[in-house]
Amino acid sequence: MDNSIIQGFSKYTKQQRIDALIRKYGFEPDLADWLGSFEAPDETIRKIIADLSENPVSSFHLPFSIAPNFVVNEKNLFFPLVSEESSVVAALANAAGFWAKRGGFHAEVLGTEKKGQLHFKWNGNPEYLQSLFPEIKLKLRAESDFLTAKMEARGGGITHIELKSLPTILPNYFQLDGGFETCDAMGANFINSCLEQFGKSLQDYFLTSEKVSTGQRECEIIMAILSNYTPESRVRACVECPVNKLVEGKTDADCLQFAEKFEQAIRISQADVSRAVTHNKGIFNGIDALAVATGNDFRAIEACGHAFAARNGRYSGLTDVLIQDGLFRFSIEIAMAVGVVGGVTAVHPLSKLAMRILDNPSASELMMYLAVAGLASNFGAIKALVSVGIQQGHMKMHLSNILNQLNIPEEKREEIQSYFHDKTVSFSTVEEYWKNLESSI
Ligand code: MEV
Repeated sequence: MDNSIIQGFSKYTKQQRIDALIRKYGFEPDLADWLGSFEAPDETIRKIIADLSENPVSSFHLPFSIAPNFVVNEKNLFFPLVSEESSVVAALANAAGFWAKRGGFHAEVLGTEKKGQLHFKWNGNPEYLQSLFPEIKLKLRAESDFLTAKMEARGGGITHIELKSLPTILPNYFQLDGGFETCDAMGANFINSCLEQFGKSLQDYFLTSEKVSTGQRECEIIMAILSNYTPESRVRACVECPVNKLVEGKTDADCLQFAEKFEQAIRISQADVSRAVTHNKGIFNGIDALAVATGNDFRAIEACGHAFAARNGRYSGLTDVLIQDGLFRFSIEIAMAVGVVGGVTAVHPLSKLAMRILDNPSASELMMYLAVAGLASNFGAIKALVSVGIQQGHMKMHLSNILNQLNIPEEKREEIQSYFHDKTVSFSTVEEYWKNLESSI
């Protein structure tokens, strides 16, 4: 393998990038054709996708799926979902259909304020700086007017700026902690631009104000960046039904037993970190699938959600359950920042379609749908875990992946599927069964 360091890879044409791959790894010379077969035939679409990132050599496909019957605040929607994990979409569709017959999901947004921080060092008295801060704040706001005017016209803007002295983190270390309303945008560019401007204005203040002594004119900006932790941008969703309607075709006692086991599973996720992580991973199976389909930054949504799960000093499950007066109430509360304008949402053709499928939601509506997707996914997982177990559903879907991996001919698949319908599926058991079947043909 050629291990030489490549200079200027980003300037290579696509063909040159592919040639570099062939040279380094010894791939077949027709690699370009093969990679090309994954690209959209339409040139405009091909270009849109390629322009989303750097150095592309092809397009990476994931299924774009639909889960119908999501009733959210009485609105009946299809959820567009992108996931590589078998059974995520099936679990969401099942939960949606189940709760559609029981009044659907109820959701509300509890706040939409985003956050950003300017991190800086200044060699002076923190109390004195705090006393200057009202004046500094006016300057910061006035000098970022040119950035905030449009956002303010849309009802957003800077909500607050606070000064924090944090010498226990670093000597002479301060933060400007800003709050921002970004309307239908996730707001990353807006927030970062405001913060960088704050940095310039702050440095200018120290340089020019007569209230700052000559030895303290230096202000070192460490960095200016939004915080992906947005605890004031929060959404809640819940479902509710009589306990005796929880399991179709079962007695009241069976339903109650199911509800109690479900509740135990939730309590465990709230108290035990090892379980909480897996529990929340299942929640993000749903949230991420909808976030990816709508072109949202699922890493930001996950990072925020996990931090929110640890807001009380211990990482916990994000859902809760209450069994009271014969009612089963299952809910989620989660912090997140999402957008429906700007970013990939309005660029990727399938994200644009996803937004239309969701009836072009506002950012707040999308937050509700994401919370609902998380709750539905968690409901499906816990329901399976405390009853038949997770493997039954998982393995049925996993089997079709294994059949693909083993290149099993279409006409033989049904026979294999029916053989494994009541057996444990693993790659080796399916492979062995197929080998025996093949040799008997
Ligand atoms: C698998 O992707 C997700 C689950 O592990 C979630 C859970 O355990 O709650 C099934």
